[in-house]
Amino acid sequence: MATEATDNRQGFGLQFSVMLPEHLDQVMAIELKSFPIPWSHRTFMFEVTENDFAFYIVALLNGRVAGYAGMWIVLDEAHVTNVAVHPELRGRGVGRALMTELLGRAAVLGADRITLEVRVSNRAARSLYKSLGFVEKGLRRKYYSDNNEDAVIMWLHFKQTRH
Ligand SMILES: CC(C)(COP(=O)(O)OP(=O)(O)OC[C@H]1O[C@@H](n2cnc3c(N)ncnc32)[C@H](O)[C@@H]1OP(=O)(O)O)[C@@H](O)C(=O)NCCC(=O)NCCS
Repeated sequence: MATEATDNRQGFGLQFSVMLPEHLDQVMAIELKSFPIPWSHRTFMFEVTENDFAFYIVALLNGRVAGYAGMWIVLDEAHVTNVAVHPELRGRGVGRALMTELLGRAAVLGADRITLEVRVSNRAARSLYKSLGFVEKGLRRKYYSDNNEDAVIMWLHFKQTRH
């Protein structure tokens, strides 16, 4: 499948594509560097080839995967499942561009609200999500099994932010 037509962001040639099986080796390299409990290649493959509720995108820089983001959409509710940027490319707007693209896709696909969980200690991600309009609504205690860290639950209601 050809890379989906995309736009150019941040002045450094970032492009977006639906995540495809051919991206997964690069996605896995980023995943392994980004999370204490990384997803497996098999999990990503299931998400991009079999899960009808899943929608994943990659940000490409010079044809290489710079980062990725994904969500599940059930009826009018979306749930962000995964977001990561290559460690060497963080702090340059890739994460913001990915999330902005994902939120746009969620709205187009019919979601009117979107939620996610984020580690209490993940200052960068919490700050990014807040700046996009997500609001912290609660905690899931001991959500992360590697260190029993709590997850902050965040929500964004598209209709509220549009008015
Ligand atoms: C979270 C993550 C995706 C952000 O991606 P990024 O490309 O570095 O983010 P951006 O450069 O687009 O920055 C967007 C915003 O994030 C926040 N942010 C990014 N890095 C930050 C840092 N080191 N400290 C505090 N805030 C930070 C800021 O609000 C920033 O906005 P600003 O540039 O206007 O200040 C990236 O750090 C990452 O991959 N982390 C590891 C995986 C992860 O934690 N994923 C989220 C799981 S819930």
